[in-house]
This record gives sequence, structure tokens and C-alpha cells, in this order.
Amino acid sequence: MIGKYRGNRQAVSALVRETEIHRDLYVDRELFELEMEHLFANTWVYVGHDSQVPKIGDYYATTIGTQPVVMVRDGESSVQVLYNRCPHKGTRLTGEACGNTGRFFRCPYHAWTFRLDGSLAGIPLKAGYDGTGFTDGHAARGMTPVRHVHNYRGFVFGKLSDVGPGFEEFFGESLSSIDNMVDRSPEGKLEVAGGPLRYMHACNWKMLVDNLTDTCHPMIAHQSSAGTTVDVWKSAPPGTKKPMAVEIYAPFASSYEFFQGMGIRVWDNGHGHTGVAHSIHSDYSAVPGYFERMVAAYGEERAKAILGETRHNTVYFPNFTVKGPIQLVRLFKPIAADKTLVESWAFRLVGAPDMLLERTVMYNRLVNAPTSVVGHDDLEVYERAQSGLSANGNEWVNVQRLYAPDEAERHNVTTDGTSEWQMRNQFRTWVKFMTMSP
Ligand SMILES: [Fe+2]
Repeated sequence: MIGKYRGNRQAVSALVRETEIHRDLYVDRELFELEMEHLFANTWVYVGHDSQVPKIGDYYATTIGTQPVVMVRDGESSVQVLYNRCPHKGTRLTGEACGNTGRFFRCPYHAWTFRLDGSLAGIPLKAGYDGTGFTDGHAARGMTPVRHVHNYRGFVFGKLSDVGPGFEEFFGESLSSIDNMVDRSPEGKLEVAGGPLRYMHACNWKMLVDNLTDTCHPMIAHQSSAGTTVDVWKSAPPGTKKPMAVEIYAPFASSYEFFQGMGIRVWDNGHGHTGVAHSIHSDYSAVPGYFERMVAAYGEERAKAILGETRHNTVYFPNFTVKGPIQLVRLFKPIAADKTLVESWAFRLVGAPDMLLERTVMYNRLVNAPTSVVGHDDLEVYERAQSGLSANGNEWVNVQRLYAPDEAERHNVTTDGTSEWQMRNQFRTWVKFMTMSP
């Protein structure tokens, strides 16, 4: 069946209006396929952190959009990203896992081998290809590298197509959120702390991205979790030391005024962040010895500036988000129009006291884990939205809050913390990269 949207840029553009979005962005299978072909090919998509592959031969198999790729350490300071496909019969060289492959990838089907840069190293019974023109074909070129790869302070991104801007131009000032997370290490270095928490969501990936700057929902959707925490804490005997879990949960129950005042910064190409003035991460207890190590590393003024940034969620459009003050990142892996795998990765600040990692890991468990009591509040509303969108009579999703008619022409602005400007920014960017010409 020929769909409505393939080859019809006008129809795709018409789905995003100034203040409303057509439901097909969340439910239509053809649009999902087109997102994989255009949006997830023309933008820089997060692959992984280079500390996941510390030793030569270490690899990590993942996806860019729905494309299977493998990140591999092929030199002391060099990481490759290759399509995870044997050029012989198409077999994946590795499962979706990590490990060390030694000096070569070896296909489990016919034992063709490849160097860590993907080039073909050996084939059993090679003489059988003599005189066949083999060296001129695709197979002789080995595993195909992803067209564009950039390692920014340990964070590895890939861009599948030649369409779209270069790395620096695409991210611009938004890289300051990655900078801040790395700078929080007295040694300027992050290390991934174990594997991710994986949480399957029966909803479209964009619902999670929309939610990152949706500050009108925490006090409602998280009433049952954060609100209950606050109530229980109120009845604690006087003098009780505030548990770390209460420090983490309670800010989710903050007032509209709190979120209004925090502000949202909006950057070009769909990037932005909540928590400009303050955030839910602002009032955590000091960790003994940490500030002193930061001052020793950076000087007092710079240390205060680094720790004074308490950005909440930074959106790296399309599907990556960073939480610097708590050293967590999340990746929303699109699986289908109504299926998304959420990965939440914790990081250790090299040279910082262990208690920071303890807080990071606790936050990840309490908020992002499949067993959390915050994350499933969100999942419940996403799944209700995913099924509610099939209701007829209104095909549009509203993103009108604090809309200003001239906002598409304005750049790098800070808005009211309850504005949906950043969501509109994401959808304008969605159209831009979905309809971009080579
Ligand atoms: Fe939420």
C-alpha cells in the first residue's frame, strides 16, 4: 500500500502547525519509518560513551535509530562506529551486547574476519574468490563505517547520512550541558558506572522527549509518589536526618511557581534545557570533601560556577538527554511507532567522593528504573496518551502554552519555566530534518 507521507514533504510539513501537532506523529507507522530514514539519519544521534569501551578490542553493540551499529575501541584514543553487519551474508557480527573481540571481529557464520576499523582481514578458502572480481565488490570493503562520527569529551555521536549540519553547528551552545557534567569531575573525566537500566515503554519515543521540558506535570502525575513522600516526611520525628531518597523525591512535588521560576533555555535544532535559575537538583546536601577537591582542581570561582549550574533535563534532539547535576543520561531508543526502549546510564565523576555515585545510582533506581515509583507515573500517562490518541473527533495535540508568534525567528532564548516553546522548537526541528534535501 502506498502511504500518505512517503515522497510528500508537503504532507509531512502540514502535520506540524504553530501550536498543534497531528496525532500521526505518534501513531503512524509510515511516519515512523520516515523518521528512521530522515530524522535519525540527518541528525547527530548519541551512540555511547567511550568509557564503555576502555581497552582496545572492547565493543558495544547498539542502534542509531533502528540501525544496528557497533562502537569499538580500535586505538588508545580512537573509537570507531561500524554498521553491525557482515558484508558476506548480512549476519550481525555481535549480539546486542558488549565484550572484547580481541584484534578482530569474527563472523559466527563463515568466520570471515575484520580488523577493528572494519576492514576485511581474512576469509577461509580465499582462493575460491581469485579471478571473480571480488576486490571490486562491496564484500571486499569489509564492515561499513558510519559516515560521520564525533567523540565530544567522551560522548560518541554518529550521523548516518551526509545530509544535515556538522557536529558543532548542529549542537552549538547546547554542548555546555555536556561540558558541565564532565567539569563536575575534579579530573574532567567521566566513567560509565555499569550497564544501563532498561525500561520498555509502549508509547512513541517523542512522548518521552516532550516530557523532558513538561513542567506542568510533576505536581500532578507524580502526586502519588513524590506527594506521598512529602506527606510521610512531614510526620517524621523532629531531628530525623533527611534521607537521601526524600531529597531526591520531594522536589518532584514542587509548586507551579517553582517550575515557572526555573526557566527553560531554547537552542536551535531542537535542543534546550529546563532549570536555568534553579531546578529539582538544586538543594541536595553537600557531599563532604567534594567542594574542596573541586576548588583544588579549578580554583574557587570556577568551582562555584560549575556547581552553580543545576540544569534539570537537557534535550539533545532527537532522542538523548543529559542530567549533569546528578550525572545521568537517558537514551530513548525508537523501536516502533508505539514502542520505545529507555536506557538510563549512571556516571562516576572521576576523582570525586563515592557518595556522589551513590546518589546518582539511587536517583536512577528511584526515578528511572522499571521498579521505580516515579517512572511508572510517567509511563502510565504516556500509554494512556498513546491509546487516547486513537479517539476520533480531534486529531491534534496541543502545544500552545505561552506561544509567541515571532518565536521561530528568535534564537537562544530563556523562557518562562512552564512554556511549551521548547516542545514547539522540537517539532519545528522535526519538520526541518524530516524534509531536508541532500
Ligand atoms: Fe514525570
